[in-house]
Amino acid sequence: MVTYLKKLLLLTGTVLTCISVYCQDLNHYFKPGQIWPDTRGRHINAHGGGIIYYNNTYYWFGEYRLPRYDKDKSHYGVSCYSSKDLLNWKYEGLALKVIDDTASQLNPGCIIERPKVIYNNKTRKFVMWFHHELKGEGYKAALTGVALSDNITGPYKYIRSLRPNAGVWPVNFPEEYRNAKVKESDLKNGSEEWKRAVREGMFVRRDFAGGQMSRDMTLFVDKDGKAYHVHASEENMTLQFSELTDDYLDFTGRYIRVLPGDSNEAPAIFYARGRYFMFASGTTGWKPNAARLYSSKKFFGEWKLIGNPCRGTEDENKTTFNSQSTMILPIQGKKNAFIYMGDRWNPDNLADSRHIWLPVEWENGYPVIKWYPNWNMNNLK
Ligand code: GAL
Repeated sequence: MVTYLKKLLLLTGTVLTCISVYCQDLNHYFKPGQIWPDTRGRHINAHGGGIIYYNNTYYWFGEYRLPRYDKDKSHYGVSCYSSKDLLNWKYEGLALKVIDDTASQLNPGCIIERPKVIYNNKTRKFVMWFHHELKGEGYKAALTGVALSDNITGPYKYIRSLRPNAGVWPVNFPEEYRNAKVKESDLKNGSEEWKRAVREGMFVRRDFAGGQMSRDMTLFVDKDGKAYHVHASEENMTLQFSELTDDYLDFTGRYIRVLPGDSNEAPAIFYARGRYFMFASGTTGWKPNAARLYSSKKFFGEWKLIGNPCRGTEDENKTTFNSQSTMILPIQGKKNAFIYMGDRWNPDNLADSRHIWLPVEWENGYPVIKWYPNWNMNNLK
C-alpha cells in the first residue's frame, strides 16, 4: 500500500511538473510587441529577418544584434532559429559570421541587414543574400552580399558583395532616359525638377558603370523557380527587381525599376490569388511609417498602389502598428494563409527590437492586417 501511494505521488508530481514546464516554457500565442522567448528563454535575436520552410521545419534568419550593455558595437552576423510550429524557436547559432580579418569586407564593424535565405533545387545549396555596408562608411556603400552553404543552418561561406547590374540598363528604361544629360549638380535636392529627374533615371545613369545601389532588400522565388533580388535603389527613391542567375549567386542583368521616385523600403513580396503583392514602408529610418500595399499581375509588370493595408486606429495605421515590414510568410498546408512579419525597431538597443507578427486577412481580395495582442494559427482562416 505504501509503495502504491509513493508511486502515485511520484506520478502526480511528474505530471504536475510536466504541466508547469509546459505552461511556463512553451509559447502558445503570438504576442506582438512583447519579449518573444526562444527555447532557452532569451528574446529571439533575428531582426529584419526572413523564413524558409525546409524538411518540415521553418528556419528563421535575421540580424543578430548585440544588447545595449555590450560595448562592442560590431555586427556579429546572421542568426538562425528553427521551429515546427512558428511559436517555439530553437537557436541554431550564427549561420554567417563576420570575418576577423581587416582584408575582408565582412570584417567586424561592417553592417549586415535584412538577410534572406533561399534554397536552390538545382545546386542543392542554400543561398543567403543580405544588405551589406562597409565598416566606418555608414550606409554609403549600398552593397548586397551573398553567401553559400550545403546545410541550411550553416556555416554560410561569404562569397562577395557587389552593386547589382553594373553596365546594364533596366528593361523598362526608355531610350530618352538613357541619353538624358541632367545631373544632380544641376538641381536643387528635393525640388520638383530633382524629383522628376530621379523618376527619369538620373541615379540609374549616375550608377550605370559601377552598379546600382542596393540597400533594404528581399528575395522572391517565383512559381517557375526563378529567383529575384528586390532592393531599394537610387538613393532609396526607387525599388529595383533583379533576376538572379540559375544558381542564385549572381545577377543576370535583367532588371526593372519599380515605382520610380516613390521612396519605398522594407519590401516584402508574396503571391496569392493570381496576383503578386508587395508590402513596403516609406523611408524614415528606424522610425515607423504607414505601410503601402502594391499589387501586380506580372512580376515584371506594372505595380499599382492599392493603399494602406492596416485596419487599426488612425495612429496605428500611420505607423503600421509601430512596425516596419520584413516578410510576408506563407503558411504551409493552408491556402492563402500568410503572416505579416515586421520589426518594431529600438535603435538604442537593437537586440531588444520587438517582432510584430500579425495574421494576414483578406478584404475584397486584398490583404489587410489588424492588431491582435494574442493570437494563434486559428486566426488564419
Ligand atoms: C531603415 C531600414 C533598416 C535600417 C534603418 C537604418 O529604413 O529599413 O533596415 O537600415 O533604416 O536607419
